Amino acid sequence: MQKILFVTSEVYPLIKTGGLADVAASLPRALLKLGQDVKILLPAYASVLEKASECGIKEVSRFEIDGLSVSIKQTRLPGTRVTVWLVDIPEFFGREGNPYCGPDGNDWYDNHKRFYAFSRVAESIALNHANLDWQPTVVHCNDWQTGLIPALLSLQPNHPATVFTIHNLAYRGLFSYQAFSELNLPAGFWHHERLEFYGQMSFIKGGLGFADFITTVSPTYAQEIQRPEFGCGLDGLIRYRNDSVAGILNGIDTDEWNPGTDSHLTCNYNRRTLGNKTKNKLALQEELGLTVSADIPLLGFVGRLVDQKGVDLILAQMNQLLNQDCQLVVLGSGFPYYEQALKNIAEQHPSKVAVTLGYNESFAHRIEASSDIFLMPSIFEPCGLNQMYSLRYGTLPIVHAVGGLRDTVFEQAPDKLSEHSNGFVFHAASADELFAAIQRAISVFKQPALWRQLQINAMTKDFSWDNSAKEYLAIYDKIILQ
Ligand code: ADP
Ligand code: GLC
Repeated sequence: MQKILFVTSEVYPLIKTGGLADVAASLPRALLKLGQDVKILLPAYASVLEKASECGIKEVSRFEIDGLSVSIKQTRLPGTRVTVWLVDIPEFFGREGNPYCGPDGNDWYDNHKRFYAFSRVAESIALNHANLDWQPTVVHCNDWQTGLIPALLSLQPNHPATVFTIHNLAYRGLFSYQAFSELNLPAGFWHHERLEFYGQMSFIKGGLGFADFITTVSPTYAQEIQRPEFGCGLDGLIRYRNDSVAGILNGIDTDEWNPGTDSHLTCNYNRRTLGNKTKNKLALQEELGLTVSADIPLLGFVGRLVDQKGVDLILAQMNQLLNQDCQLVVLGSGFPYYEQALKNIAEQHPSKVAVTLGYNESFAHRIEASSDIFLMPSIFEPCGLNQMYSLRYGTLPIVHAVGGLRDTVFEQAPDKLSEHSNGFVFHAASADELFAAIQRAISVFKQPALWRQLQINAMTKDFSWDNSAKEYLAIYDKIILQ
């Protein structure tokens, strides 16, 4: 049995800004199911302390790091048996709002200090210096916020093994030399083979350079990030570490995302009662003021409105799309420019386009269930969870063939359909290719028997964590023996 300290800056339902939170909730659960001892380590953001208090919370340790008073509070991940340790440092985490940025949308001015302190606490626990009487065999770190942990542990004799998972290489955790000098890191870390990155400090380099093993969240992304187009300047380092890099496809929480039991839906359904899926669509059209009709294909989009998600491709082909007999429903938040552009289109075409800005978990479930087609034209996508949610809900995705989208969505010509066909795939990040894929999807939508076959293919695929959690376990076992 491994003892795993799973370190993350977000975990659903305590705090979520994106897919990392979903993974940080469901992978530890799957590892627990495999008989492993897993503890999640998370910053005690103000909103997290509030939510966790509903499940019971108690202080289990108190100590000092670099003159800072740290309290570790223990709770459980709501609805599970997974223990969560909250790192309570009020001056860094006791703020309202987003974990990474202030109310003005800019990164918190002291993010380097906040995640350095979090990493130092993780280091203490990893070395069993935190009065918790528990020492992990593996420290599993996720994304730049935890990148310093493998670097710090590399300085310690007999430290536990470390795994670093890249959920998104585009966020490299970059800070100035001034910021570096404000942290209590060895001067030797300011070196291009350590944390220095073209004149800045990169937190993610700590994970990439020092972890015993690097994983990322799909096999295709594991290859892509070794090339300059997707490598964000770190492809050379990842190529250098090639022997210790693996791509493991994320699973999804099949209880949380189950159209048969999802309490957010107007009407539950499964692949034998697909007729009931339409009731969700009609209810959503009505609620949003769209023309109510089962026959008009409804396209859905849920996600962060940022360049990564290909929002500009959607906008660039909008006029052509508006000439089709179809509807679009969008839920998201992000760059003001994208928010405004989408809002304007919805105002001009209220019976065809509905745009909701903001974050709404329940509405995301209803869009997944109500749409016929789900748009995911991401420019790059390490894994992507929404397309897997869509597949499970019989909502056929249109995806750009990158990263995890390429590994989960497959299109074959209608006359060559096999059980692998489950959506629509385009191969160049262009608005014309996206529009052509939308046209193919609408044409198949008009052939109900074929559409039904693709829906069944989509809903039959197993996206549970069972296999992927075993792959992580195999990596833990392997590095511990090294
Ligand atoms: P990423 O992590 O890059 O944002 P993923 O597809 O892996 O992309 O995960 C996104 C997660 O965040 C999904 O669970 C999705 O439903 C959710 N999500 C994104 N934006 C919103 C929103 N505005 N409201 C509700 N859920 C959202
Ligand atoms: C990141 C990626 C997304 C991935 C998620 C969970 O946010 O952008 O593709 O699904 O992490 O691993």
